[in-house]
Amino acid sequence: MDIFERIQLDNGPIGKLQNKIEGKFAFPKFDGKISNHVFLNNKKIICWSYNNYLGLAVSDEIHKIDAFSQQKWGLTYPMGSRMMTGDTELHDEFENKIADFINMGKALLLNFGYQGILSVIDSLLTPNDVVISDAQCHACIIDGIRLHKGERLIFDHNNIVDLEQKLKIAQEIVEKSNGGILVITEGVFSMSGELGKLKEICALKSKFNFRFLVDDAHGFGVMGSQGNGTVCALDLEEKVDLYFTTFTKSMASFGAIIAGEKEIINYFKYNLRSQIFSKSLPMPVVYGLIKRLEIVKNATENRTKLFEITTLLQNGLRERKLLSDKVNSYITPVYFNIKLEDVLIVQTELVYNHGIYCSIVIYPVVPKGVVIFRLTATSLHTQEDVNHTLASFDDVFKKYIK
Ligand SMILES: Cc1ncc(COP(=O)(O)O)c(C=O)c1O
Repeated sequence: MDIFERIQLDNGPIGKLQNKIEGKFAFPKFDGKISNHVFLNNKKIICWSYNNYLGLAVSDEIHKIDAFSQQKWGLTYPMGSRMMTGDTELHDEFENKIADFINMGKALLLNFGYQGILSVIDSLLTPNDVVISDAQCHACIIDGIRLHKGERLIFDHNNIVDLEQKLKIAQEIVEKSNGGILVITEGVFSMSGELGKLKEICALKSKFNFRFLVDDAHGFGVMGSQGNGTVCALDLEEKVDLYFTTFTKSMASFGAIIAGEKEIINYFKYNLRSQIFSKSLPMPVVYGLIKRLEIVKNATENRTKLFEITTLLQNGLRERKLLSDKVNSYITPVYFNIKLEDVLIVQTELVYNHGIYCSIVIYPVVPKGVVIFRLTATSLHTQEDVNHTLASFDDVFKKYIK
């Protein structure tokens, strides 16, 4: 069969809905500054969909920093991958500063989080190794694992008993294959809104021999003293072998890092295919990251505000029995069993009658029949935003959700 013909018959699980959802909850085109309020089709809305946890995407200070560096270097400099012609002192400076901040031996800057961690997983493993990951790990981890030619095991989300079972299986495999074991989880899960069980996983190191990689995309900037992340918040720097975060969330920028022991990071420097065969991050991004790091460290007030808003929002949702007790971060998923047609009606009513926008998560990200209305609090949201949202939920959800 012709490949293009087949694609036209099947656009994929979300793609096949494009006529219904595009512009609504897929590919919405927001206007205005990235803040608690934005515009959608000229309608002012309260937006609960940005991972702009500390509100930096709308900061005047950041805007000036970015304008300065754009003027000074532009986007062309440097050219080439870092290994060839694209390395600079500023790239090194940022890596040294962030390694100090997160208390890890060394850090390597990655162009993008997705490709970066994919390459990290790929370059770490040989077919003799076993990789074990949490069932709710992000697509970039899943795709990195897809490249692995050895055994792959998945443990139930945040279920340490199940992880222990999987570690026993993995141990038997590597005893025969002479390989090693890699365990991967996240600091803060962006779907369930739960913190990863990092302490419990580290404790398993006394029973099993494995290396531990944490993706802290949603923890960095918020968790820990001065925002140095979930691993530092739990004092686990000595036990977590590899720390990954992206700068596309709290830092409101681009790029990511992988950090750990110096020797291992040096190995990545020469072996990460996503870095070696890809152009280096441009100077305005790198300079911006150095400056943002200082801003994040000093953003105590933003973190306090974020937690205040989270408490208000989550208390209100819990009073309405709309939020799981398991949620223990600022990411706030509201789960419903609802038909897709009804999701569209609810979403339209929320946006156009009430001026509220949440992220809608549907199958295949969640099981069929389940839909998440996900609200991500930021330091910019206000008590009025929360009150208005809760009152709107009372009105809209009562009508459509039994
Ligand atoms: C948990 C997690 N890891 C990695 C990434 C990828 O980061 P980036 O946006 O830098 O590609 C994301 C982004 O959505 C994420 O949520």
